[in-house]
Amino acid sequence: MQSVEKTRASIGEGIAADALAGLLSPRKSLPPKLFYDEAGCVLFGEITRLPEYYLTRTEREILVSLAPELDGFVARRSSLVEYGASDEAKAALLFAPLDIAGYVPIDIAADALASLKARMAQAFPAIRVHPILADFLDPITLPRDVLGTPRLGFFPGSTIGNLDPPAAIGFLRRVRATLGEGATFLVGADLEKPTDLLLAAYDDAAGVTAAFNRNILARLNREAEADFDIEAFAHRAVWNPAEHRIEMHLESRCDQIVHVAGKRIIFRRGETIHTENSHKFTEPRLMALAMRAGWRVSRIWTDPQKLFAVAALQ
Ligand code: AVI
Repeated sequence: MQSVEKTRASIGEGIAADALAGLLSPRKSLPPKLFYDEAGCVLFGEITRLPEYYLTRTEREILVSLAPELDGFVARRSSLVEYGASDEAKAALLFAPLDIAGYVPIDIAADALASLKARMAQAFPAIRVHPILADFLDPITLPRDVLGTPRLGFFPGSTIGNLDPPAAIGFLRRVRATLGEGATFLVGADLEKPTDLLLAAYDDAAGVTAAFNRNILARLNREAEADFDIEAFAHRAVWNPAEHRIEMHLESRCDQIVHVAGKRIIFRRGETIHTENSHKFTEPRLMALAMRAGWRVSRIWTDPQKLFAVAALQ
């Protein structure tokens, strides 16, 4: 019991330090990884089912249609290594068509990995599952068992877009080193499109994305001794054409002082906390990014409306 509490306390300290680093800088920001506590994961699940959030369902349609065509890229009996796998829903679309032998879900949420493993034992008992509890941005060592099979990396959801280009290139390089010679890496990426469609996806009518964005403040209140008045911050989604990205911000509705872990933070009315970037790609930009990390783009699949893309890197 004592050790659990100690762990919780040190996690709280880590969150406070991460938050303060951004909140005490001249242009206030919070790291998007703070979105994903239990409440944030539930809200993100709701986002993926919103009518305005076309990303998840479009990527799913693409995966269903490309799976039979992956034969040329992926050896049978490969191990599928999924980066940021809070559940197996998307990977499962590939298991049967590719005759997948092993599954390596990498995620930072221990509970999510435990439930995933239990569901896999029921639904896909023939697939060996090796969960890795880690931040997928950190260097990963694959189990020996997996290194003995061909490897297919998988990074769906356009999470690549949440990384700034230098971080995305660094991540793609590390994945190349982890998966090794001869591997294929399937990456989902959201495509640039008319601004109204993008803004609706990140500022939905039901207010779920607003609740997701504000939950970051509620989390700091719960875990980092903060006293944010959540209603005093408005959700803002903005298209930044120069950087090709949707930005999410929380805008202070008034002049106010907030405390986080004993530090005073002064907000002016209209000042924002930048909480997330979601970069949008064109096919050439996606190819250039992959090539700068040493990958060759073998093929890009899109939906008929060209909303979303899945690229096979080799
Ligand atoms: C996880 N990631 C790909 C989502 C995105 O679209 O950038 C996170 C998200 N933020 C707001 N809505 C969804």
